[in-house]
Amino acid sequence: MVNKVTVVGAGNVGATCAHEVARMDICKEVVVVDVKDGVSQGKGLDMWQTAPILGFNTRITGSTNDYSKTAGSDIVVITAGLPRKPGMSRDDLISINAGIVKEVTENIMKYNENPIIIVVSNPLDVMTYAAFLASGLKSNRVMGMAGILDTARYCAFIADELGTSPELVKAQLMGGHGDTMVPLPRLTTVSGIPVTELIGKEKLDAIVERTKNGGGEIVSLMGTSAWYAPGLSAAIMVQAIAKDTKAILPVCASLNGEYGYKDLHLGVPVVLGKEGVEKVVELSLDAEEKSLLDASALHVKKIMKVLDDMNMFSKKYGSDTL
Ligand code: LAC
Repeated sequence: MVNKVTVVGAGNVGATCAHEVARMDICKEVVVVDVKDGVSQGKGLDMWQTAPILGFNTRITGSTNDYSKTAGSDIVVITAGLPRKPGMSRDDLISINAGIVKEVTENIMKYNENPIIIVVSNPLDVMTYAAFLASGLKSNRVMGMAGILDTARYCAFIADELGTSPELVKAQLMGGHGDTMVPLPRLTTVSGIPVTELIGKEKLDAIVERTKNGGGEIVSLMGTSAWYAPGLSAAIMVQAIAKDTKAILPVCASLNGEYGYKDLHLGVPVVLGKEGVEKVVELSLDAEEKSLLDASALHVKKIMKVLDDMNMFSKKYGSDTL
């Protein structure tokens, strides 16, 4: 149990995350901040009115861009920024969202000394890097949400293929939140049975491809980005930190030598607890998996360089090579 969780952005993802966190009864208060006048207050009130029905106690308050209301936050979830429209990749959002994430992070740091920050804005890995640079926090306290969502999509597709219960599917997925993500069939099981025993290679490859495009599939169906699974995935991270569960979850975390990468935020399995990313779990990958992860890491490094070239931050860790 912690005192306060702030969610910045009362759009679909932010509001879903705020409500899921409130329902978990893991903090005394959820504060929702948004630039649009009245939206966070209205949604906050609506969510609070579900408390008598659902039976939770978390107070929910909204605020229009008044960051003093976020003071004393243990955990801050940043969902602010524009979502994708059909035909856009997550990387297309970089110039707009980097400025938003920087400003939001600086505002948070005016009122909070040592929060844990979870970034959800896209392009995810690079926005996590932007929040890390803007916050000045230790690298274990700034992370991004993508792996839980991407893994959930992958598991849901496997459950569909087998006609089985999704909760029986357990998987690992690494890399950046985009086309270069690396689902790992070798480490995927259904009721403890390796998925490779249950689904043939061709079908499994197709599921991996569909997972990589999982967000885009939804954007092309409804014209904007998903929110139920993204909002809940961020709330699951908040829960692991607030309850100090030490859950092993796929998270976009700062790497300082792990997997051979440095100064990079990338999806890897980590131990999540009250200090944030308490440990990066290093799996032994086979040669093919490592080369896919290298390609993903390189893609993120290159997009980081695009951000560096905007000269928003004095530190620059992007590059055209690994
Ligand atoms: C998605 C967004 C949240 O993958 O990136 O749906």
